[in-house]
Amino acid sequence: MILPIYLYDHPVLRQVAEPITDLTPEIRRLAQDMLETMYNAHGVGLAANQVGVTRRLIVVDIGEDEGMREPLILLNPTIEAFSEETVEMEEGCLSLPELREIVVRPAAVQVHYVDFRGHECHIAADGLLARVLQHEIDHLNGVYFTDRLSPVRRLLLRRKLERIARGEVLPPYPVVLGHAVVEQRSEML
Ligand code: NI
Repeated sequence: MILPIYLYDHPVLRQVAEPITDLTPEIRRLAQDMLETMYNAHGVGLAANQVGVTRRLIVVDIGEDEGMREPLILLNPTIEAFSEETVEMEEGCLSLPELREIVVRPAAVQVHYVDFRGHECHIAADGLLARVLQHEIDHLNGVYFTDRLSPVRRLLLRRKLERIARGEVLPPYPVVLGHAVVEQRSEML
């Protein structure tokens, strides 16, 4: 089921998500729905907060071109190590439509998580995968990529962010603004 994606600046996106203690049918269903929602929106990663659920769950699929054969479902992911080397990379976010900015982050990370079968796993990532993992884990801690920008850059983005918050920038997938579900119907454009 495709879930509506919560847009900036819904309070749920500022909450710190709770750890998952049991792999319940509800959590399994949520993970599948999040993958469907992410693919529908042409995203490469999605955090549970973005569909209004404050649990520590993210899904990632950067695609076969980037060497990923199947999607990653990560429960309770934590960054346990990161490189001193940093890189600049452009980021976007399904909760911040039409906004893309260069963000500086560690080039490589090691992430600890529990997989969909309940196994403890570690993944070492660099390139795009390292970037997406850091971005999605930030969401679980109530952090937007725009929080990682310089104060000057953030100031320059203020108007764009306000437009998103007012519902003036609607993407072509179902979203939640405040407490309302808004679906932009492409045939009406
Ligand atoms: Ni995002």
